[in-house]
Amino acid sequence: MTKANNTSFTFLNGRTVNRIGYGAMRLTGQPRNFGPYADWQGGIDLLRRARDLGITHIDTARAYGPHENERLIADALVDQDGRYGEMFIASKGGVEKSATNIRRDTSPEAMIRHLDQSLASLRTNKVDLYYVHAPDGVTPVSASVAALEKMRQAGKIGMIGLSNVSRSEVEAARKVAPIAAVQNRYSPADARDPAQEDMIDWLNDLGIAFVPHGPLGANPMQRGAIVDPGAALRTLLARSPNILAIPGTTTRAHLEDNAKAWAV
Ligand SMILES: NC(=O)c1ccc[n+]([C@@H]2O[C@H](COP(=O)([O-])OP(=O)(O)OC[C@H]3O[C@@H](n4cnc5c(N)ncnc54)[C@H](OP(=O)(O)O)[C@@H]3O)[C@@H](O)[C@H]2O)c1
Repeated sequence: MTKANNTSFTFLNGRTVNRIGYGAMRLTGQPRNFGPYADWQGGIDLLRRARDLGITHIDTARAYGPHENERLIADALVDQDGRYGEMFIASKGGVEKSATNIRRDTSPEAMIRHLDQSLASLRTNKVDLYYVHAPDGVTPVSASVAALEKMRQAGKIGMIGLSNVSRSEVEAARKVAPIAAVQNRYSPADARDPAQEDMIDWLNDLGIAFVPHGPLGANPMQRGAIVDPGAALRTLLARSPNILAIPGTTTRAHLEDNAKAWAV
């Protein structure tokens, strides 16, 4: 059963985060989240403002940029001792991205290579949570997760997550390793999906976080929330105590609004 209160959530390994986090994907070259963020110092300032606001959970991926988003996070949040302190960093591997193409590769070799690249970009030897970004349709999810489990046992990952997955894929993965978080598309802006509703309740019973991506209904390739952001965040967080919000924004005013959306 989920360990949470109104404002915080405790993962299976005991790490606690504020339930309002920050999705950093848009701090990359636009459009297409490709290349470095044009206003690098502005991105650093925004991430540090998030930290000052009490946001602890930062969501990124090797594919954002690629690499550039993780490097920006390192520039903003690694302290003088090379640590992230109270910040909780979640990243993902398994997607190859170029200027013209996006391709999934969740083979064990790719997952291990991507994790090592993520650690280098984030300038750390351990990332708090590492997701399989999206199953490639060829590699069984259990094989991708078995590779990450070896990395967890080697101390390179705090916990393993799955993104863009079905319940049966989570069930298969749980046979080879503990799964701490699932990140799927879910928003009050989207049509109701009974499979996601079932997923949220099932994960909550297991103490596993559900992290909706695109929580404000945005198209990942276009700027702008589709629903009222404050109302959407309140609806999501009221839905279940295992839901962690990661709204994305490039503006300080929106970041500040989102951070207080649940503190009413
Ligand atoms: N796992 C996956 O496959 C996957 C896929 C997509 C996304 N994600 C993750 O989910 C995170 C969030 O997704 P997202 O950024 O695509 O969509 P989102 O959070 O639904 O919406 C972001 C958009 O809403 C706008 N916005 C945010 N707060 C606002 C506010 N208070 N008032 C008005 N507009 C506001 C932002 O524009 P401004 O910049 O103007 O504020 C931005 O364009 C990403 O950062 C990423 O970490 C994961």
